[in-house]
Amino acid sequence: MTLTANWSYPTAIKFGAGRIAELPAACAQAGITRPLLVTDKGLAGLPVTAGALDILDAAGLGRAMFSEVDPNPNEINLAAGVAAYQAGGHDGVIAFGGGSGLDLGKMVAFMAGQTRPIWDYEDIGDWWTRANADAIAPIIAVPTTAGTGSEVGRASVITNSVTHAKKIIFHPKVLPTVVICDPELTVGMPKFITAGTGLDAFAHCVEAFSSPHYHPMSQGIALEGMRLVIDYLPRAYADGTDIEARAQMMSAAAMGATAFQKGLGAIHAMSHPVGAYFNTHHGTTNAVCMPAVLDLNADVIRDRFDRATGYLGLKGGYAGFRAFVQDFNDSLGIPRGLRDLGVTETAIPDLVAGALTDPSCGGNPVPLTETNLTALFKAAF
Ligand SMILES: [Fe+2]
Repeated sequence: MTLTANWSYPTAIKFGAGRIAELPAACAQAGITRPLLVTDKGLAGLPVTAGALDILDAAGLGRAMFSEVDPNPNEINLAAGVAAYQAGGHDGVIAFGGGSGLDLGKMVAFMAGQTRPIWDYEDIGDWWTRANADAIAPIIAVPTTAGTGSEVGRASVITNSVTHAKKIIFHPKVLPTVVICDPELTVGMPKFITAGTGLDAFAHCVEAFSSPHYHPMSQGIALEGMRLVIDYLPRAYADGTDIEARAQMMSAAAMGATAFQKGLGAIHAMSHPVGAYFNTHHGTTNAVCMPAVLDLNADVIRDRFDRATGYLGLKGGYAGFRAFVQDFNDSLGIPRGLRDLGVTETAIPDLVAGALTDPSCGGNPVPLTETNLTALFKAAF
């Protein structure tokens, strides 16, 4: 099977090895003539980024880059990015990288023409209608990891540098116009990042699959997404140059983010405040939290996992899946507890408070309370 295709779901996706060469065509498709490539500090100096800039340059599109983006991007990074965008007279953004570069790039395009502070557009009710939709610049997304799925999402996570809260900023027009999913861009990812980002995609699929909301399309996508991670993450982890495994993981990442329209849950509600306070890796934190969350939700999600495990190639129904998750984490070098990520137990009350107000909280199959969240965090230590 050739792992190359053009998809228009949920947006235009150019999928396949080597397709970064089509970046100039993507700019034309999105109506961008003066792109600003936004990526994070770590990626800025890597050959994969220089390669993308060379492709733009050779096509007469310049090589403008903004990379003052922290691992958990905040409003300070955003203000600097918007200033760079305006100073350069740009007319669109290439959001390039993992979750940080993609999320901040999307927000630079969003905020370049807005007049209110970013927090006024948090994903609450219809707050997104406060934005001037006509002023949102076109976005091309180019993921270089396989996890966040932000390339197919209509939101970004931005950390408030003062309160440490992670806020989801949503607008339908933040969905990138064109996505280039080129698995060759992910080949250089170190093992730790391959595992952490891959398990973020897994958490998206598991939480969407577990969420009580009605969305059968997402349910199907989440199931196949779980299968791809189970089958291909071990291969991508063992051999980073395995392009088939890298491609399938890139699909799984986009599928996880498509599926979680149905809802996320306690894994993300826990992981967001942990990341905001302790700067831990998002996907790795999710993986550490997953076993405790499965235990909390067991009675409600047992039937659907009993049905799923046959398709996933796992024996023993829900119990088999639960046992598999711990073995999977262990095989991918994931620590057993939050303590190993540098999280301190005295922070639990703050983490519980953060989780209770996290937007993912409402998608958990068992309603989350101060009591069960406190027990969850203790179990995850
Ligand atoms: Fe996530």
